[in-house]
Amino acid sequence: MVGEKVQLRIEKMTVGGAGLGRHNGLVLFVDYAAPGDLLLVEITEEKKNLSFAKIVKILEPSPERIEAPCPYFGECGGCSWQHLSRNEQLKQKHNLIVDSFRELQKIQTFEIRPLLQSPKDLHYRNRIQVIAENGQWHFRKKHSHQLVAIQDCLLVEAPLRKTLEQSPSNIKSGVRYDLRLDRDSKVLVTALDENVELVGFSQVNRFQNDELIDHVIESLSQNGSGDLFEFYAGSGNFTFPILNKKNYNHIWAVEGSPALVRMAHDLIQQQNISSKKLSFHLGDVGQFLKTRWPKSQDVVFLDPPRIGAEESVIKTLGLSRPRQIVYLSCHPVTMARDLKRLLAIEKSYKIEFIQPFEMFPQTDHVETLASVTLD
Ligand SMILES: C[S@@+](CC[C@H](N)C(=O)[O-])C[C@H]1O[C@@H](n2cnc3c(N)ncnc32)[C@H](O)[C@@H]1O
Repeated sequence: MVGEKVQLRIEKMTVGGAGLGRHNGLVLFVDYAAPGDLLLVEITEEKKNLSFAKIVKILEPSPERIEAPCPYFGECGGCSWQHLSRNEQLKQKHNLIVDSFRELQKIQTFEIRPLLQSPKDLHYRNRIQVIAENGQWHFRKKHSHQLVAIQDCLLVEAPLRKTLEQSPSNIKSGVRYDLRLDRDSKVLVTALDENVELVGFSQVNRFQNDELIDHVIESLSQNGSGDLFEFYAGSGNFTFPILNKKNYNHIWAVEGSPALVRMAHDLIQQQNISSKKLSFHLGDVGQFLKTRWPKSQDVVFLDPPRIGAEESVIKTLGLSRPRQIVYLSCHPVTMARDLKRLLAIEKSYKIEFIQPFEMFPQTDHVETLASVTLD
């Protein structure tokens, strides 16, 4: 019952960041809990299959609990796992992956490789979004629109910390700002009220991004005659390194953000890249697939947003049967769903491996790479 206080032992961490415990058949999700904690919690929301609670008192702390390094932890909604030791963060992330792919493992067995740790556990982010209010930067509280004034963030790189430290001038109250580093580590501040399409996706952890690019390139197979279809390509984070290291007949890159495609076109022009080798298309992946299907000798690499790929995209991939599909994702649950849909359409596909990467230390987010090939 909402408002009821109960004792709870936390079993594990879950996607979304909360700890999970059970009480009288009720599965309770508790923010800022740690595996092994014995807690007094108050039930805050009850649903059919899952309910939520908040910590009233830590009765027995988990041995993996640590003092969070950031003074805003628990107030600011940015980090969910700063209270877990680094070893426990890595262990729990690996378990999240195993849990997310459990259903799929019942259809076919495949290797889940050990999680590759980020070279940096703090000061790794090169972009954040903050809200300006009364001449101060703010983050939002977890699950809330309430603001938390901040002057530092331990996740961001040094130049961004400097920006957060200073009282911002010329900013508009109530507006969300994108703060990011350019290639020369200069801070770019963009108000998102008028300029939303000027900023787009980029990998936030450049220290681990290099590792990710190497693994993607290594995973992509090549038989000499095929094309590569790269979907959700951003500004070409993977496209240009792939072009340099591999020799596909043609790379078809597709991305929906005009700002990112403009960046890619600029680089194509600067580097004088032949349109015979690479074409970078602005548009929706589903729409693109209505005009051109991968063939059996081609390879597909996709890196969709958290919501995963559209069902029609997966369906077309399953029906067109490229010989390899390499799938990168920042959400293991939607990735597992998409792979399950793919295997339902084309049963000959075999998952070669799942390789998780730690891109976002101190949070529950995890990046995962999978390679799927025709049997
Ligand atoms: C996770 S990001 C990956 C970007 C790129 N691979 C990188 O590493 O920088 C996903 C990208 O998909 C794009 N996107 C989302 N939905 C799309 C769609 N339906 N069609 C085309 N692009 C889309 C977003 O703009 C974003 O750039």
